[in-house]
Amino acid sequence: MIKVAPSILAADPINLERDVRSAVQAGCDWLHVDVMDAHFVPNLAYSPDVVRRLHQTFPVPLDVHLMMDHPETLMDSFLDAGAQWLTIHAEIDADVHMLLRHIREKGGHPGIAIRPGTPVESALAYQDEADLILTMTVEPGFGGQKLDERVLEKMKAIRRTGWQGEIEADGGIREDNLKLLTDSGLTVAVMGTALFGKGNLEDAMKRIHALHP
Ligand code: DX5
Ligand code: ZN
Repeated sequence: MIKVAPSILAADPINLERDVRSAVQAGCDWLHVDVMDAHFVPNLAYSPDVVRRLHQTFPVPLDVHLMMDHPETLMDSFLDAGAQWLTIHAEIDADVHMLLRHIREKGGHPGIAIRPGTPVESALAYQDEADLILTMTVEPGFGGQKLDERVLEKMKAIRRTGWQGEIEADGGIREDNLKLLTDSGLTVAVMGTALFGKGNLEDAMKRIHALHP
């Protein structure tokens, strides 16, 4: 069964607990937490304290997506706060191999993310050090954008290498385009605006899990 990771960026920030609870009660598999540094992307989002409180409150794996130029400054804080999955971007100017190995040594699952315009080879270079490859299906920074279908070829290319880890997509995923992604090798669907603030979350989660076993 594919895993659904609701992205809390689309939750109501002043009602975060209410919205996350409804996602957890609906049976979501993971929770996706975006971290933005207002530099790697032109937006600002969640801190390790938020991850800590989510971890203390909800029994769901936390999938933390670091959209940061300098993830090394906060990686340990996020892991100590309870992030099970910690993903960094391949485009940053850093020793990405070393950072991924560090996440694994600290007991986390390392992930490597690429923007829609970054060649898939940039992620494949880290296959040995990562447990997850995140192919962004929109330019990172904001929810509510349209999925870039050109990314499907990259997901297929990852699958063709025999990769056994998770293949995650993030951005513009809705119930009506999910099949395109699962046919291309997707194992984890990050969904923000398609889930929060739209009708009954529990019904949506049931439909998704039933259609994508
Ligand atoms: C975008 C974020 C996503 C975002 C997805 O930079 O990484 O997690 O919340 O939102 P939707 O599903 O609305 O495109
Ligand atoms: Zn994300």
